Amino acid sequence: AQEPIIFSGIQPTGVPHLGNYLGALLPWVKLQQEAQEGTKLLFSIVDLHALTVPQEAAQLRKWRREAFATLLAVGLNPKRSTIFYQSAVPAHTELMWILSTVASMGYLSRMTQWKSKLQLPDDATLDDSTARAQLRLGLFSYPVLQAADILIHRATHVPVGEDQRQHLEFSRYTANSFNHLYGPIFPIPEALISPAKRVMSLKEPTSKMSKSHADEKSRILLTDSPADIRKKVKVALTDSEAGVSYDPVRRPGVSNLVEILSHLDGLACEEIVREYQGASLRALKEHVAERIVSHLHEIRERYLGLLTDPSYLDSVAEEGAEAARANSQVTMRQIREAMGL
Ligand code: ADP
Ligand code: NA
Repeated sequence: AQEPIIFSGIQPTGVPHLGNYLGALLPWVKLQQEAQEGTKLLFSIVDLHALTVPQEAAQLRKWRREAFATLLAVGLNPKRSTIFYQSAVPAHTELMWILSTVASMGYLSRMTQWKSKLQLPDDATLDDSTARAQLRLGLFSYPVLQAADILIHRATHVPVGEDQRQHLEFSRYTANSFNHLYGPIFPIPEALISPAKRVMSLKEPTSKMSKSHADEKSRILLTDSPADIRKKVKVALTDSEAGVSYDPVRRPGVSNLVEILSHLDGLACEEIVREYQGASLRALKEHVAERIVSHLHEIRERYLGLLTDPSYLDSVAEEGAEAARANSQVTMRQIREAMGL
C-alpha cells in the first residue's frame, strides 16, 4: 500500500495571524506530531503564488524569510518535515506546463479566486470587460500551479481550510485527466479539512480574521507583543448584553472569543460558557488575552531568534529544497517516460 504523503503550502504575504495559525499552521504541527513513521510531510513557502499580484522585491525577500522562520517557530521540525521554498524546486513549474496541456479552461474560468482578486462577482465570465483588461494569465492559471505543487510530490493528503476545497477539487480533476491520458502516475489527493472553526475579525466578527482587513486591531499577529495582544482583545467588538454565552448568530463577537479560547484550551465552547457562568465579558476578555499571550509566547521568542540568524535559515531551506527536488524528480522521471519526453 502507498505510504501517505502530506503536502501543503502557505504564501509569504506577511506575518500570519491567529486565524492562519489555528486554521492552518497548528493543524500542520499536529499532523507532524501524529504522523506514522512512513508518512512523508512536505510544507512549502509558495513564493511563486505570491507573484499573482505585483510584489516589491525587497518586501517579498523579507516575507519569504519570515514565512520560513514562522514554520520553524510554530514547531515544524526540519528533521521530520521537508520545508522548502517553492521557487527552489523547478519541477513545480515544469509540471505546471505539462498539466496546463490537460487542464480545462472552462473549469478555470468558473473558479472564483481570480474574480474575487479583480473584485468581480462570482458569476463573472471571461467576457467581462474588467476581466479582459486586467486578468493576467498567471492569476487565471494559478490553480494549475497549485495542482502541480501537490501532484509533483505525489501527495495523497492535503491539509487545507474549507475555503480551499474548490482548489483541491481542481487538482483532483486535473490529476484524473492526466492519469486517463497517460496512465496512473498521480495518486488522487484527498483534502484534510481543518476541523477548526474560522477565527473571526476582532472588529467585525461576522467576517473572518484576514490580513486584507484595513484595521490592524482586527487581527492578532503571531509576532504581536503581549501588550499588543492585551490591547487588541480589550477593544474587540462584543455587545451590550451581560455575561458569557455561545451564540454565533446573535452574539458573534462574544462567541468568537469563546471559540478562540476553546481552541487554545482544548475545551468545547459549551464547557467554557459553563465555566464563565456569571462572569463578566471583561473577565472573559482578560482570560482570552492571557491564554493567547502564553500560547504565542514561545513561538514569538523562537521566531525573533530565528530572524537574527539568516545563515541558519538559509541552510535549513537548502536542505529542504534538496529533499524536495529529489522527491519531485522521482515523479518527473515517471512523467517523462509516460509522455515520451
Ligand atoms: P488571509 O485571509 O489572511 O489572506 P489566507 O487566505 O492567506 O489568509 O489563508 C492562509 C491559510 O489560513 C488558509 O489555509 C486558510 O484556510 C487559513 N485561514 C485564513 N484565515 C483564517 C481564519 N480567519 N480562521 C481560520 N483559518 C484561516
Ligand atoms: Na485570503
